[in-house]
Amino acid sequence: MSVPEPVELLALAREVAREAGDLARRLHGEGVEVARTKSSPVDVVTEADQEVEALIRERLHAARPDDALVGEEGEDDPGSSGLRWIVDPIDGTVNFLYGLPHWAVSIAVADQAEVLAGVVHSPGLDAEYAAARGAGAWGNDVRLHCGEPTDLRTALVATGFGYDARLRAHQGEAVARMLPQVRDARRLGSCALDICAVAAQAADAYVEEGAHIWDHAAASLVAREAGARFELWPTDRGNDLIVCAPPTLWPAFAVLVEECGFAGPALA
Ligand code: IPD
Repeated sequence: MSVPEPVELLALAREVAREAGDLARRLHGEGVEVARTKSSPVDVVTEADQEVEALIRERLHAARPDDALVGEEGEDDPGSSGLRWIVDPIDGTVNFLYGLPHWAVSIAVADQAEVLAGVVHSPGLDAEYAAARGAGAWGNDVRLHCGEPTDLRTALVATGFGYDARLRAHQGEAVARMLPQVRDARRLGSCALDICAVAAQAADAYVEEGAHIWDHAAASLVAREAGARFELWPTDRGNDLIVCAPPTLWPAFAVLVEECGFAGPALA
């Protein structure tokens, strides 16, 4: 089977993300139940996470039966086509649990080398970010271009915290060191939407350690196609550190991230 164009893959991703978003919203209206916890007592999976991921798997499998799939809540499906779907049914699960609107369905598809298409669909914010490799990025169908900030002192930096209490302690210290040097920090609760915010000029930069591929795959393409730089740096704690900023801010922001100690030291 020949590999479809990124825009064709994006069309499928958007269709499935919208259906998944509608289901998540409906399930939210019926009441949110925690199904289980994962890495720590605060790392929850709701029944909606599971049901929405099952729907996404079913739809993608029906349309592209030979593709691999990795999802936050289920087993990896190995596939044979060379394409892999990367799915977070609800990024921002804690917001979803508490009735805060900042959550999104995130669906990306990648070949062996890179992400080809991605969508971050947020029913609560009435926002949809989408990108196809080489074709651009859009926010609610308007072409996205990241900003051109240059001054760290007026930069609004989005960040996030992991579910491991020891990691959170380090992350909090790094953010405390950063705060006097930037305009302010935001912890909105969805890695995917935070990265898209850089693409949409709703944040100037983003840094977070320990998020997973399903949290950032789709949004990373949105950011890159909007002109931002997106990198994963290995940390002393064996995680990836996401660093994302427009090229104009990158040199100063990259130095700040290092100086504030976002990537170390190792956990005791
Ligand atoms: C989490 C969110 C959060 C980030 C965490 C992620 P989840 O994903 O993206 O903003 O700080 O690192 O794990 O659990 O809601 O899918």
